[in-house]
Amino acid sequence: APIQAPDLGDCHQAVDLPDTAPETNCCPTYRAGTVAVDFTPPPASSPLRVRPAAHLADRAYVAKYERAVSLMKQLPADDPRSFAQQWRVHCAYCDGAYDQVGFPGLEIQIHNCWLFFPWHRMYLYFHERILGKLIGDETFALPFWNWDAPGGMSFPAIYANRSSPLYDPLRNPAHQPPFPLDLDYSGTDTTIPRDQLIDQNLKIMYRQATRKTELFMGQPYRAGDQPEPGPGSIESVPHNTVHQWTGDPRQPNGEDMGTFYSAARDPVFFAHHGNIDRMWYIRRGLLFPGNTDFADPDWLNASFLFYDEDARLVRVRVRDSLDAAALRFTYQDVGPLPWLNSKP
Ligand code: C2O
Repeated sequence: APIQAPDLGDCHQAVDLPDTAPETNCCPTYRAGTVAVDFTPPPASSPLRVRPAAHLADRAYVAKYERAVSLMKQLPADDPRSFAQQWRVHCAYCDGAYDQVGFPGLEIQIHNCWLFFPWHRMYLYFHERILGKLIGDETFALPFWNWDAPGGMSFPAIYANRSSPLYDPLRNPAHQPPFPLDLDYSGTDTTIPRDQLIDQNLKIMYRQATRKTELFMGQPYRAGDQPEPGPGSIESVPHNTVHQWTGDPRQPNGEDMGTFYSAARDPVFFAHHGNIDRMWYIRRGLLFPGNTDFADPDWLNASFLFYDEDARLVRVRVRDSLDAAALRFTYQDVGPLPWLNSKP
């Protein structure tokens, strides 16, 4: 059977928080008795949100994005759309704040399994729509960190401006732009020259993005299963490596980006996951045209809860997440994929 959406009324202390993390409440706002509505896709006539590459974004876009994030940070802390609530959504689903419905003591974990891509897609979907709503712009789209192309292989500068709401002090100070990104980072900086590093990154992209379905998406995870059966290729590298590369090594757990509970406190989380999502998007649209996703009903019917732009609690199933066009978003066309010819 599929993993079912948690009971928000049963959210508890996150059991997987690292020992060295400060006291952290990961449970999102919940008013007892609130009933979730089932997800319905946006009307087919609603505008398509085109997510831009962060390193190509123009001033007008950045100003708009900053205004939206700043308004999100100003919402009352208990508003489910506030920045203070948005990172908790991630924290609760990844540090064991929910038990599986019907399996007390068995946590829900959306990482290291086949729920990784669909859960994060829907998390971004609602986050993006909340930001758009705050600035009254139905076309607003989150940027993506284009780390699979040479132009995007450093920390995106729009997040590095200290006076911007996109800034977060808890980052690795040595990895600020234009310091080159190593997609294979494992805690120490490489000394290989930039050209070679780019070449190595492109080979990694080819290898990770072209795996067969189960290796790409992650291992099956069903109701009653122990969490974390195994990550997909992209989740391991570059997803985990870029998280670790970004976080602050002076913090006990690489906060913010380097550990689950705090990762989404850094606005760059959403650009990183934009490109993670884009790898799935590209796969369906271009690499393997047609549907190469799982057909297993335990995947398709797995469900999650999110608050939408009107602060309504919504139940989403994996099957609702498969088609980006139906969700009315797409990615800026940044030209041919530079790694397609980098078969290792
Ligand atoms: Cu839910 Cu990039 O982690």
